[in-house]
Amino acid sequence: MLKIAVLGAGRIGQVHAANVAHHNDAQLVMVADPFIDNANALTALYGGTAVNNPLDAINHQDIDAVVICTPTDTHVELMLAAARAGKAVLCEKPVDLDIRKAIAAEKALGEHASRVMLGFNRRFDAGHSETYQRIRNGEIGDLHQVIITSRDPGLAPMNYLKHSGGIFRDMVIHDFDLARWILGEEPVEVFATGSRLFEPSLEALGDYDTVMVQLRTASGKQCQINCSRQAVYGYDQRLEVFGSNGMMLNDNQRETSVRRYGPQETEVRGPLLNFFMQRYTEAYRHEMDVFISAIRNGSTVPVTIHDGCQALKLADAAQLSADTHTVVTVD
Ligand SMILES: NC(=O)c1ccc[n+]([C@@H]2O[C@H](COP(=O)([O-])OP(=O)(O)OC[C@H]3O[C@@H](n4cnc5c(N)ncnc54)[C@H](O)[C@@H]3O)[C@@H](O)[C@H]2O)c1
Repeated sequence: MLKIAVLGAGRIGQVHAANVAHHNDAQLVMVADPFIDNANALTALYGGTAVNNPLDAINHQDIDAVVICTPTDTHVELMLAAARAGKAVLCEKPVDLDIRKAIAAEKALGEHASRVMLGFNRRFDAGHSETYQRIRNGEIGDLHQVIITSRDPGLAPMNYLKHSGGIFRDMVIHDFDLARWILGEEPVEVFATGSRLFEPSLEALGDYDTVMVQLRTASGKQCQINCSRQAVYGYDQRLEVFGSNGMMLNDNQRETSVRRYGPQETEVRGPLLNFFMQRYTEAYRHEMDVFISAIRNGSTVPVTIHDGCQALKLADAAQLSADTHTVVTVD
């Protein structure tokens, strides 16, 4: 049994705690949160001990691994403390909002980086990973273009947005990782446009509510990412890949596959799964399973802090591009 502590018992901490607790090869031993009511709520559901200091969990002899689900600006500090204590880590995205701090953390981890996994859950979505595999199997020939549509159902609270680091570093970071993974090459050019089409108050934060990004790799492969903070019809998550021998599309998921036909309308379908916790339920479960297996088997985790740093570089480039209306080169 891998003995795990979840650090941070908020939205994503709740998802990961449940998945640890229901895993056959892991045990939820501790939940740490300075807001102890949050930690208590999770231990009441899934067992384990609630503590208010994450370092108490990290340094506890009974803990083999920690899942970092705390606010972004605490990730690096907790990850490095866990590494010093010899503990494996699954850390939520992004690594940090400051690329220099993220790269310094990668350096500081050294060989321990093989036991520190980044929480880019979309790689573990069944449809996305099938698409990835079928591209590699040659089903659409040479990959030419990737189109990612990624829209949230509604704007996050202003309090969250103030500390989020902006739409590129907080939200599109998932799509930057997805793009790198699907393309199989690092993008070297970024062009982004950003608009405030429905939330003018984001101007004070230097943030946007609606963005489009274009990426180009050294060999010329292209990717377009369409992203909005507000889609009135729900959480819109689509992946289209186009190549020399065809196209593949991983479409949205719905609560029901039934379609209704009537006198006034046809093909009436139910709503999209509304947000990340519903749309990616299975992906989070699979992500945890892969993490636990890698640590138990002593193999390198499949998504590393290096992936986190590369995605953050693209986010920084997109922010600069949108702010300055220029094409930005990434190394
Ligand atoms: N992969 C995903 O799909 C996904 C989804 C949501 C959030 N996230 C990421 O997860 C992180 C947390 O986001 P959230 O939405 O769950 O936030 P949240 O505000 O809902 O929860 C954060 C929790 O951490 C606690 N906390 C604060 N400081 C702490 C510390 N030093 N030690 C332990 N606990 C601490 C807070 O009291 C709170 O309970 C962010 O970095 C976010 O970007 C990832």
